[in-house]
Amino acid sequence: MKLKNLKLNNYRNCKDIELDLNHNKTIIIGKNAQGKTNILESIYYLSSLKSPRTTNVRELVMFGEDGFKIEGTLNKSDTDIDLDIEYNLNKPKIQKLNGLKTTPKNYKSVMTTVLFSTQDLLLLRGTPQDRRNWLDSAIAQIYPAHDERLSKYNKIRTQKNNLLKEPDVNVDLLDVFNEQIIITGANIIFTRQKFLTELKKHAIKKYADISGAEEFDFEYSFSHKDIDEISNQLRLELEERKPEELARHQSVVGPHRDDVYLYLDKKDATKFASQGQQRTVVLSLKLAEIELIKEKYGYAPILLLDDVLAELDDLRQTYLLQSISDDTQTIITSVDTLLFKDEFLRNVKIYKIKNGEIVED
Ligand SMILES: Nc1ncnc2c1ncn2[C@@H]1O[C@H](COP(=O)(O)OP(=O)(O)OP(=O)(O)O)[C@@H](O)[C@H]1O
Ligand SMILES: [Mg+2]
Repeated sequence: MKLKNLKLNNYRNCKDIELDLNHNKTIIIGKNAQGKTNILESIYYLSSLKSPRTTNVRELVMFGEDGFKIEGTLNKSDTDIDLDIEYNLNKPKIQKLNGLKTTPKNYKSVMTTVLFSTQDLLLLRGTPQDRRNWLDSAIAQIYPAHDERLSKYNKIRTQKNNLLKEPDVNVDLLDVFNEQIIITGANIIFTRQKFLTELKKHAIKKYADISGAEEFDFEYSFSHKDIDEISNQLRLELEERKPEELARHQSVVGPHRDDVYLYLDKKDATKFASQGQQRTVVLSLKLAEIELIKEKYGYAPILLLDDVLAELDDLRQTYLLQSISDDTQTIITSVDTLLFKDEFLRNVKIYKIKNGEIVED
């Protein structure tokens, strides 16, 4: 699939910008704080209706304005599809396919992007929350229903937490919430495990290709895999830890507490991996995501590389650029072009950005 063009209005620091993306590789060059990440973020938003940086859509509106617009034409299986998103402060956002309003779920199933940013490189040093966010965003690109399930789960959890904060908790009502936590929670855990199993065969291979030195492996923190077993285990833990939940006035059992354990030669990679090894882990996971999408859908996602090349050494940079096949549309941001080998620069379109606007050299 290919995003042929992008148009932004009042999106962060981009007042009015139009980009022709009708080439397989695009590089956006600009100094710090000019709008490079904003553009990639808007493309990610155009595909997934969410930002990797914020859950508050108001932050995406240019300061002092009352709304934004993102528009693009996607070519998929030789057909053009117009995508557009319009948001006005205090109104629900509207997403359209070919000019017709549609549901978020339907909308999100059309365009697929994989974003790789310097933030991702911190995955191993991050918190379990960071790893859950990475996992859930990756899953949502393949299973669009995952987002809805998560928001349903979080809504129930908020209601349950509110109940736990009451001075005299109605335990019957708590049990009702717990049953809902079991149903939605078990589905989330099941999907996360299924995705990680699917990702694993690609990721381990990618790691071995980049570095044959050690063996990479990972697993989800919740060990049960069958949906009934997951539900039973959740029920057991919710019952066992009910006194603790009542005492702490918060919900402590469920997928919002889980993590992904990452190992190098069977040792905890979050504790022992060197900088280079951490980068190889993340790079392997990202490349595996692309492979998995190709396997599932038969086409490559759009790859967004935000500033990552500067952070990778020569070996990893070359591996990354070589493993992006020619048919994968790739949009890269960087502070300068010196980072790229001449052979890579031959077939790319380069844009320069300054203060949210495209400028000539
Ligand atoms: N809602 C908004 N309205 C106006 N400007 C905004 C808004 N949100 C962010 N900005 C500004 O956009 C500018 C560019 O941000 P962006 O993150 O895209 O920079 P960048 O080019 O990626 O820089 P870096 O190389 O440092 O990553 C920043 O100065 C930021 O303050
Ligand atoms: Mg940036």
